[in-house]
Amino acid sequence: MASPGLLLLLLLMALPPLGSYLLPGLDTAKSKATIADLILSALERATVFLEQRLPEINLDGMVGVRVLEEQLKSVQEKWAQEPPLQPLSLRVGMLGEKLEAAIQRSLLYLKLSDPKYLREFQLTLQPGFWKLPHAWIHTNASLVYPTFQPQDSLSEESSDACLVQLLGTGTDSSEPCGLSDLCRSLMTKPGCSGYCLSHQMLFFLWARMRGCTQGPFQQSQDYINLFCANMMDLNHRAEAIGYAYPTQDIFMENIMFCGMGGYSDFYKLRWLEAILSWQKQREGCFGEPDGCSSHNTATAVAALGGFLYILADYPPANREPHPSTPPPPSSH
Ligand SMILES: *[C@@H]1O[C@H](CO)[C@@H](O)[C@H](O)[C@H]1NC(C)=O
Repeated sequence: MASPGLLLLLLLMALPPLGSYLLPGLDTAKSKATIADLILSALERATVFLEQRLPEINLDGMVGVRVLEEQLKSVQEKWAQEPPLQPLSLRVGMLGEKLEAAIQRSLLYLKLSDPKYLREFQLTLQPGFWKLPHAWIHTNASLVYPTFQPQDSLSEESSDACLVQLLGTGTDSSEPCGLSDLCRSLMTKPGCSGYCLSHQMLFFLWARMRGCTQGPFQQSQDYINLFCANMMDLNHRAEAIGYAYPTQDIFMENIMFCGMGGYSDFYKLRWLEAILSWQKQREGCFGEPDGCSSHNTATAVAALGGFLYILADYPPANREPHPSTPPPPSSH
């Protein structure tokens, strides 16, 4: 059998010129099934790796697994309705069951290793916390910052503290949607790049998942537009330098978060191809040039799950596509 990379390449060549969007080119059930099969195979192999590493996967990693499971649930239901895709639907269902078991086992490990962190963030591992996008939009390049701040100036500690306030899971508060002045300024500060930017995006994404709509959260969509426009710009830059290590992790995190935010332009076929090519054939993992990273693998599966989700969310060939916004004029 041809290697997945080769198969995808052949498929890409067989398709009509694509533009840079995944969606419009995939107009036959057959090409859809072929790509779905490639993604699913990658996810199945990555899942074997994650299952073996369960005791060492931290909560952030399990969040990626939960996101994937939500995506799979939706894909399974959609494809169960389409006879040509029913075999894939069954595979998706089996993978979902494996992931659910893995999450439950992982909770036991997390309870032992870091009970405080688990108490604060367990909510984000619950079924139904992550709500999938049902309307698709595009990023707006005119929102890209003229320059980025030189430093990633959002520490993990302050970011976590702000997320706990937002979730309302700290010991001093039980009210969700909390936002101190400090957190407000950190989470809306312009000019962030890298993980600083993706954490700002995660903050407003979780605010949406948690149902926060008052005060500054009235502008959540504006901030999300701003952050994802810049995350798109950074992903283009990562691509331009050949995804040199260590940009792959943040590149995939950007796809995971902005994809969950409903930005379909993150789901480019050539980006899918790149991600699939990074998977280590033997271990099924993702990571640095000579190693496996659980975090990297968890981020990769959530990004790949997003590709599968948008593939299933897009109407089949025999129906008229009905995207929520008109297609963009150009490829960027
Ligand atoms: C993009 O953002 C700019 C600046 O906010 C705005 O003027 C423009 O209308 C937006 N474009 C689209 C397509 O939404």
